[in-house]
Amino acid sequence: RDAPLILGIETSCDETGVGIVRGTTLLANTIASSMDEHARYGGIVPEVAARAHLEALGPTIRAALAEASVTLDELDAVAVTSGPGLAGALMVGVGAAKALALSLDVPIYAVNHLVGHVGADLLDTTAPLETPTVALLVSGGHTSLLLVRDLVSDVELLGETIDDAAGEAFDKVARLLGLRYPGGPEIDRAAIGGDPRAIRFPRGLTQPKDLVAHRYDFSFSGLKTAVARWVEQREAAGEPVPLADVAASFREAVVDVLVSKAVAACTDLGVPRLLLGGGVVANARLREVAVERADAAGIALRIPPRSLCTDNGAMIAALGAQLMMAGHPPSTVDFGADSTLP
Ligand code: KG4
Ligand code: ZN
Repeated sequence: RDAPLILGIETSCDETGVGIVRGTTLLANTIASSMDEHARYGGIVPEVAARAHLEALGPTIRAALAEASVTLDELDAVAVTSGPGLAGALMVGVGAAKALALSLDVPIYAVNHLVGHVGADLLDTTAPLETPTVALLVSGGHTSLLLVRDLVSDVELLGETIDDAAGEAFDKVARLLGLRYPGGPEIDRAAIGGDPRAIRFPRGLTQPKDLVAHRYDFSFSGLKTAVARWVEQREAAGEPVPLADVAASFREAVVDVLVSKAVAACTDLGVPRLLLGGGVVANARLREVAVERADAAGIALRIPPRSLCTDNGAMIAALGAQLMMAGHPPSTVDFGADSTLP
């Protein structure tokens, strides 16, 4: 029998994502974003996001079916992000997925958004996921180091941010530099031609004393404050702010900490495999430095293509397919959106 045909729905934040996969083969990845509406406010407005999902979901499902050249009655299952994320936004996807599964009489799989980001790495590659592997998940809401022994049943949290997420740091620093939301791609653009060594910004939780209790934890709020202070001092002195140097130096500090801690986890645990996932993995410099340092340390690195790093439905469908193929029991239809799912 063929691998199962799964439709995945993602509405945890500002992207309405619908993906269709057959097993690990990507057939469609359709995204409608309310990002432009949020950009006016400099960040996500939960109520705006929920309403935008409601409007976009029907057309996005139809577009994904067309892109994959399949019809609803061919689907073997539906997968949906049930958390974590914005409660109102999640509810739109969960409600739609349940309606779809009930009316088609197919199983439904409730999926953890963060594990979904790891699932993105299974798509469009012939290399099966080797376990155990360390996974670094970096998004707008989370920055976590995971030890994945089994994607569907055994994911251990090694460490996480104790304040801001890495993507949040990009968004906040972009804002204080007068750049648009989302900050990650804006900082990437602003950093072109900048010197990453121009300003030595702090690397959070990397001092010997921090490494005892927080070896695999992250902290980015001090870095954000350091950038703010540096810019204020320049402006107070009436000197111009060298935007490219500030952006490149800030980005270097984030990337340096992310990659060093991920590589340290691989080395400490004797696991020579590292997988990256989440929106921040679209970052040009992060991809470069990860390749360099993983190479140097003899670590096999997996990075999903950029289009699968930021939130999308295909990664949710991919994880649903893994659950189904592993014989995992589907979710019962009484599950709800869980905005604080661990
Ligand atoms: O995974 P994601 O799409 O949504 C969440 O689950 O949060 O991640 C969104 C985050 C935003 O903070 C955005 O600024 C960041 O990912 N991001 C980037 C880049 N593209 C998106 N950060 C750094 N560099 C990028 N090129
Ligand atoms: Zn995400």
